[in-house]
Amino acid sequence: MTAPDAAGPGSVIPVPVVLDCDPGHDDAVAILLAVASPAVDLRAVTTTFGNCSVEDATRNALRVLTLVGAHDVPVGAGAAGPLRGEAALGNYVHGVSGLDGPAMPEPAFAARPEGAVAVLAEAVSSADRPVTVVATGPITNVATLLTEHPGIAGSIAEVVFMGGSTERGNHTPTAEFNTFADPEALDVVLRSGLPVRMVGLNLTHQALATPDVVARMLALDTAVGRTCAEWMGFFGSSYRALWEFEAPPVHDPCTIAALVRPGLLTWREAFVAVELEGRWTRGTTVVDLHHRYPDPPNARVAMTLDAEGFWDLVLDAVDRLGG
Ligand code: RIB
Ligand code: CA
Repeated sequence: MTAPDAAGPGSVIPVPVVLDCDPGHDDAVAILLAVASPAVDLRAVTTTFGNCSVEDATRNALRVLTLVGAHDVPVGAGAAGPLRGEAALGNYVHGVSGLDGPAMPEPAFAARPEGAVAVLAEAVSSADRPVTVVATGPITNVATLLTEHPGIAGSIAEVVFMGGSTERGNHTPTAEFNTFADPEALDVVLRSGLPVRMVGLNLTHQALATPDVVARMLALDTAVGRTCAEWMGFFGSSYRALWEFEAPPVHDPCTIAALVRPGLLTWREAFVAVELEGRWTRGTTVVDLHHRYPDPPNARVAMTLDAEGFWDLVLDAVDRLGG
């Protein structure tokens, strides 16, 4: 039985959301799910370095929004690198453009000149109720927003981030890419006192775009469905070559699914820390699921995903975007 959408029949108040991302194939699917879901009021998309340069991530975000006609969503380009150290880039997974695979439309509109942090500050402070901040790349822009606009936390409902893991990493044996790319930024968010939800690899590895899922995308017989299938094709080839996955885990839309259909995920309260110094472990999230440290829980950690319900949600959204 599929869990009801957060804005199902009768509920008319969508969740105000800002999405900070590094598109990136899976970020692109997260954007589609956010645009298509009546349960989400997508107030801004901001971009960061990560899967590719911030310039490419910004162009990719504009292309994805253009593909689905979402020309009214403010876009702001953000950090070109982390708070400390050099920028790690994920082109080895996402290709030269950061979104290799299908041809994409040229952007029909431009990013706002004021940049990501100003776009985020405006989107959050102008909302008529607290805003959910979703981050699916290195969380640098969000950390900078909290640091440069200390009063903004009062207008933020929660931060939901894709990153880290309760188990192993991917970019390194212990560190997931987003938290490896800017661990200091994640530390700022974890210490902010804001409600934080962590959607790590332990969860997102349950969201596999299997051949059946890709076939369902193609069966929609729409431009957006074909584009998604081709994204999965490229993304899957990287995951097969790099990590021996039979099907790619589509990480980032799991964050949006948690807002749209909360019953799809289960969570555990835990103390979460991110390693800042380890020679071999920098960027690793330490998730204390069994209270071995005296530190109180500072996050809710996603543990299980109803994968069938997740893909039903994503495919329904892609179908509604048509094209
Ligand atoms: O480790 C996976 C995460 O890093 C995803 O968000 C992917 O898009 C990359 O940003
Ligand atoms: Ca991402």
